[in-house]
Amino acid sequence: MEKIIIDGGSPLKGKVKISGSKNAALPILAATALYGNKYIFENVPNIQDVRTMLELLKILGAKYEFNKNKVTLDTVNIKNHEAPYDLVKTMRASVLIWGSLLSRLGKAKISFPGGCAIGDRPVDQHLAGFESIGYKTIIKAGYLESSTTGPTGGNFKFQIKSVTGTENLILASVLANKKTILENCSMEPEVDDLINFLKTLGAKINRSKEKIIITPVSKLKKQKKIYRIIPDRIEAGTFMYLACVPPNEITLTGVETKDLEEVVSTVKKIGACVKTKKTSIKITAPKEILPIKIETKPHPGFPTDLQAQLMAVLVLAKGSSEIKEGVFPNRFIHVAELRKLGAKIGIEENTAKIKGVEKLAGAKMQASDLRASAGLVLAALSSSGESQIYRIYHLDRGYEGIDDKLKLVGAKIWREKE
Ligand code: EPZ
Repeated sequence: MEKIIIDGGSPLKGKVKISGSKNAALPILAATALYGNKYIFENVPNIQDVRTMLELLKILGAKYEFNKNKVTLDTVNIKNHEAPYDLVKTMRASVLIWGSLLSRLGKAKISFPGGCAIGDRPVDQHLAGFESIGYKTIIKAGYLESSTTGPTGGNFKFQIKSVTGTENLILASVLANKKTILENCSMEPEVDDLINFLKTLGAKINRSKEKIIITPVSKLKKQKKIYRIIPDRIEAGTFMYLACVPPNEITLTGVETKDLEEVVSTVKKIGACVKTKKTSIKITAPKEILPIKIETKPHPGFPTDLQAQLMAVLVLAKGSSEIKEGVFPNRFIHVAELRKLGAKIGIEENTAKIKGVEKLAGAKMQASDLRASAGLVLAALSSSGESQIYRIYHLDRGYEGIDDKLKLVGAKIWREKE
């Protein structure tokens, strides 16, 4: 395993190109199993989770090539309906194959997706949704085995907004026997990128806010042109927060600024200067970081996937801040690590109370999940002296070449064997 070493405290200034969205690429690649065809995608991030999804599709019978952020996929020969334990255990998003397999084969056998550092990650909404549109599921030897019970399609209202739950139900409804109406759906832009992709193949899907109506079709059309994955708003937000630490100044290119409204508003509240164009954004840090109070919520609220990264900035604010984690039951595992740098953070139920300090000093830390590890990198870059971050494979699951991107803006960062 590798660790990242950071010699912190250097001013960071320059330009970074943002990669394609992990959380759009994963459901869209899973969607290719829905209908046997050839597909081509561009702006696909070269990250571990994408490679895991492609390997899963290969186990099901697909063929693929992946280079220079371009994926070509042939899913004509998908016949295997089982997503095996050793892949699902490394990536919860493997559950996204579930809806596609039900549409394609009328059955699916998915290894029960485990919990992770940010909570037990149940799938009860996926199960209830599938049942309401004509699929029953039994649990056998750690696998979820779903199959049809008659005509498919129907109505379902999510009790809690679930991004992959919404995506799975869409995938399971596109080729159903009758219309499906989904309510209290997630509004994340990545869900809309999946919907847009499916509509290019002739799927009939209409969204009005949290309601999504899927009118089934009997088959999908051939892809007319290469589909481009939307930019990764969480990677963009990660670099935007890094730019908020004085005296940093970073310009991001290849972004979709309309998906960053809530992040931009927090960056402005921190006191940073923001210059946005349609696909680029320049952030200049304030002289002093202003404290803020925020709660993470489903989109269009403040994204939970940027909670750790924002915290890594607020630990240096002039005053006290609060971050309430409103989406996951336990997403503060990075707090104990940030304290090693000298951060002053108290946790009360699902709220982190952060007392800003003048400076942080480097330390050895341990990554625990993808976004927490990004928060540790940001904090290490703002600390004086050397930090070491272990188990950095978490970071490589979702950030493409983050070390190189950080070096481009002046970071002293390198990797070594643990
Ligand atoms: C997606 O995960 C993202 N992953 C996560 O990003 C993101 O943090 C999360 O949405 C919230 O925005 C992908 O898109 C691949 P949820 P997902 O179902 O779909 C509860 C990253 O770092 N819930 O929206 O698994 C759940 O426990 C990852 O890129 C149920 O109770 O999250 C959580 O509290 C991390 N029952 C809340 O809903 C269910 O059946 C939101 O979870 C499903 C979810």
